[in-house]
Amino acid sequence: MNAESNYVWWKHGVLYEIWPRSFYDTTGNGSGDLKGITAKLDYLSDLGIDGVWLGPINASPMVDSGYDVSDYRSIDPLYGTMADFELLLGEAHKRGIHIIMDLVFNHTSDQHAWFIESSSSRDNPKRNWYIWHDAKRGRRPTNWKALVGGSVWEWDKKTKQYYLHSFLKTQPDLNWRNREVRDAVYDTMKFWLDKGVDGFRCDILNYYLKDEALRDNPVSLSAGIYAGFQKHLYTRDQPGMEEILKEMRSVLDRYENRMMVGEVYVAQEGPAMAVKCLGNEGDLCNLAFEFSLLFTKWDASKFSEVIKQWYSVIPERGWPCNVLSNHDQPRAITRYAAGRDSNKRAKVMAAFLLTIRGTPFLYYGEEIGLKNSRISRRDVTDTIGKMYWPIVKGRDGERNPMQWSDGPYAGFSAVKPWLPLNSDYAEVNVEAQMKDPTSVLNFYRQLISLRRARAPLLRGGFELLSSDKYLIAYRRTYQNQLIYVILNFAGGQRSHVNDSNKRWNVLLSTHRSSNSIVDKGNFVIYPYEALILEEAES
Ligand code: GLC
Repeated sequence: MNAESNYVWWKHGVLYEIWPRSFYDTTGNGSGDLKGITAKLDYLSDLGIDGVWLGPINASPMVDSGYDVSDYRSIDPLYGTMADFELLLGEAHKRGIHIIMDLVFNHTSDQHAWFIESSSSRDNPKRNWYIWHDAKRGRRPTNWKALVGGSVWEWDKKTKQYYLHSFLKTQPDLNWRNREVRDAVYDTMKFWLDKGVDGFRCDILNYYLKDEALRDNPVSLSAGIYAGFQKHLYTRDQPGMEEILKEMRSVLDRYENRMMVGEVYVAQEGPAMAVKCLGNEGDLCNLAFEFSLLFTKWDASKFSEVIKQWYSVIPERGWPCNVLSNHDQPRAITRYAAGRDSNKRAKVMAAFLLTIRGTPFLYYGEEIGLKNSRISRRDVTDTIGKMYWPIVKGRDGERNPMQWSDGPYAGFSAVKPWLPLNSDYAEVNVEAQMKDPTSVLNFYRQLISLRRARAPLLRGGFELLSSDKYLIAYRRTYQNQLIYVILNFAGGQRSHVNDSNKRWNVLLSTHRSSNSIVDKGNFVIYPYEALILEEAES
């Protein structure tokens, strides 16, 4: 079987997250828009992208940058119109690029018509669409902490009850135990699937259900400040979640070739919950994010521990996906920055993400080594940054404008962008890197096309051969084909002993030319080398 047969776009392809406000501005207002994404589809297609996940674009008061939806069937005017969206979808499909939308249904905006009605009286028909409770002996019903700190309970003076919000108080949680709510979600999914959307990224889906008996979460100092010093036993991952995911999946499966990827928000607690969302029978989420790599130190042995753990729990009928950066955490290259070595590290990361087992998700700009922008107090737009500055600076830094050229405003916009550019845009931009054969961008392009051409990289097994703090080596095998990957995370030369008697052909390396031969035995691995080998014909 060659690499192209049975090619499933969301399994074998490379997916790419776009923060729509920061990709490309066509209207000259400093904010990216849907037409801007359409204008850059050729770039994405040349890069070898199979699917784009668009950050939230539905109508929203933007208190949480669009993760507070006020109308699920519309496009926020900031991004354009429904016609712009349909054009984007059609043009993407012409190029074989699939479109995944953000589906944000743990909560709505407090400006959504459902919540306006729900909060209007205790006996309106939408009251039970959200989670309302009386005070318990004059106090909040439980000790549950919101993901952004503070209580999940907000007192509503008018109707004299509390409503629950897992995130900001302007994002009331929907009541997923109510059949009408579920049907409304599934109808919304159908609305977009009928338009031709290829799938959804489901925002914090492990929070949909909360404990019905309203038991307090156990206090736990070791859970840390971001968990509000409690174990979230009763506020997420509740029994019944599988049933909901099954229902969602059955909506999707009425259409051909669609998918959903779950955002399973647990930050730093390992893959257990992500795996639950995949399900043993492969009938829940097609993919689920495991975020450990976003919190892993630059240490080859730590990287390998994470994936070893992840792969060891993936059910036989499940499929892993892998991610190093997204819109909620500092970009990987910023986390791992090492002065002049930053781009070298970017290439090692690229080789890792694109040669391990599972679907890679890139975050726009990752392919050029785009770093976070520096954000000062007056630049902050993210509510979390506004709430907690300067202790927590918010997520604006990683949502920075894409750098297309060294022209005015990095070719992103004709006017000053909504967030600061990174000051390095004269060097770090698409146009310059296209011309430079040794650029990070060209390395990504080569890796992506290699990946697509080699069955072991797309569908092969994964075998970790060795790893220490500096070096990781693994094999990908499919039928009788074998690919060997060795990555040096360190700035010093290292050696690696290969115990097989084979001669190796260089498929791609940061340091040697492709098709050169590496002899059996002892390999020298150059500083920050990414070396991808295939068995040579003898
Ligand atoms: C998810 C999103 C994040 C958002 C939150 C609340 O974690 O990735 O950006 O703020 O959910 O919707």
